[in-house]
Amino acid sequence: MAESSTSDPDSTKFRRRGKLLIVDDEEGPRQSLKVIFKDDYEILMAGDGATAIEIAQKNRIDVAVLDIRMFGMSGIEVLERLKYVDPAIEVVMMTAFETSDTLRQALRLRAADYINKPFDIAAMRAAVANAMQRRTLESEIDNNTEKLQELRAELQGRKIEEQIASTRGDIYASIIHDINGPLTVISGFIQVINERISNTKGLRADDMDFVKDRLKIITREVTNCIEISRRYLSFLRRQTDDAPRVGVNQLFSDLSHLVQVHPAALNHEFEIKPLTHDIGVKVNGTDLIQMLLNLTVNAFQCSPQSHRVEVSARVLDEPLDLTKTKDGPEARHLNVENFFNTAPLVKLSVRDNGPGIPPEVLPKIFQPYFTTKGPRQGTGLGLNIVQRLVKEAKGMLEVQTRVGEGTTFSIYVAGAKLIS
Ligand SMILES: Nc1ncnc2c1ncn2[C@@H]1O[C@H](COP(=O)(O)OP(=O)(O)OP(=O)(O)O)[C@@H](O)[C@H]1O
Ligand SMILES: [Mg+2]
Repeated sequence: MAESSTSDPDSTKFRRRGKLLIVDDEEGPRQSLKVIFKDDYEILMAGDGATAIEIAQKNRIDVAVLDIRMFGMSGIEVLERLKYVDPAIEVVMMTAFETSDTLRQALRLRAADYINKPFDIAAMRAAVANAMQRRTLESEIDNNTEKLQELRAELQGRKIEEQIASTRGDIYASIIHDINGPLTVISGFIQVINERISNTKGLRADDMDFVKDRLKIITREVTNCIEISRRYLSFLRRQTDDAPRVGVNQLFSDLSHLVQVHPAALNHEFEIKPLTHDIGVKVNGTDLIQMLLNLTVNAFQCSPQSHRVEVSARVLDEPLDLTKTKDGPEARHLNVENFFNTAPLVKLSVRDNGPGIPPEVLPKIFQPYFTTKGPRQGTGLGLNIVQRLVKEAKGMLEVQTRVGEGTTFSIYVAGAKLIS
């Protein structure tokens, strides 16, 4: 015997009206309660416990006014079961000379309040309004918590997506940056070959040797380009290659070829100092060439005035004392925390006697896209790439600089016996 009254739709326009369930087995009090509350809430009514439970299962009841003494299912039992259907329902009990035990039980079952029957209208209104407010507040908190969680999840999702997108962008930019090096070399050699060929009528044997020799370098550089793109593509797929062992002196000889035709090297003095006793490094060869080339080109480009650039290597038979690697206005160390500091170590240095790096610029040089060169001259990605490759190789990168004297970039990586 459920009845429901819907009233004035205007007041529900912006805010859902509270749903009040009136449960009493006597028609009189049921009707008078309906009269009292019909303007304020949406009213649902039940004349027995079972109907009340059924209504609560089908509707989101905010507050129930419940007669404690009913025919059939007792008010206490109904209270318990209503709370079971929805623990957040607020229940105002109507009592008539109940023992304090029953009242205590009702409160233990989390009844919101109890009002003596026959009830005082003002007290009943206050009790229901209070219960309604509590319910709304609770559901608002619930709602907000839920919304907050959704928002957090969404933000997290977006952050990850953005990160992926931005690394992708960086990686594509890096591919272009890195491939630019070998391409410059390739085009340099092609130019040299062209000049040689166009100046001669018919190819002599030494011309052939010259061309063959340059073609070999071109082939190597093309392979380099392919390796670079493969490296980045595998990075996108998050794979890592096993680091093969390369000899330092082989690396230096490759670097020398690359630098020979690099336009940045023009007018500057360049020297590579090979090791007397060669050693291997546990880093991908293309990666290491890329790091050294980036550092060497930077060293050339640090000043248009003619200066000297020197590339050298040192084998360290002891691990580094990392307590001494202090950052300051003239020094920086990167990847100290993940550095595989186990002897033998190889220290590869690129030193220039250019202008040095001012203390206010030094902290910024590894940031992606930071450059002090003109927009057409630098992308500001070089050192960021070096830093990333050093990190991947579990090496350490060090920069020591002094304004007016020059700069030395050093890469520390794990050394290994060369397998011949
Ligand atoms: N050897 C150096 N001497 C002085 N400043 C340097 C040296 N190496 C790097 N820098 C500074 O660090 C900045 C960032 O170098 P990075 O290699 O990341 O970018 P870039 O050389 O400017 O551009 P790109 O590498 O794309 O050509 C340079 O613009 C320069 O200011
Ligand atoms: Mg650079």
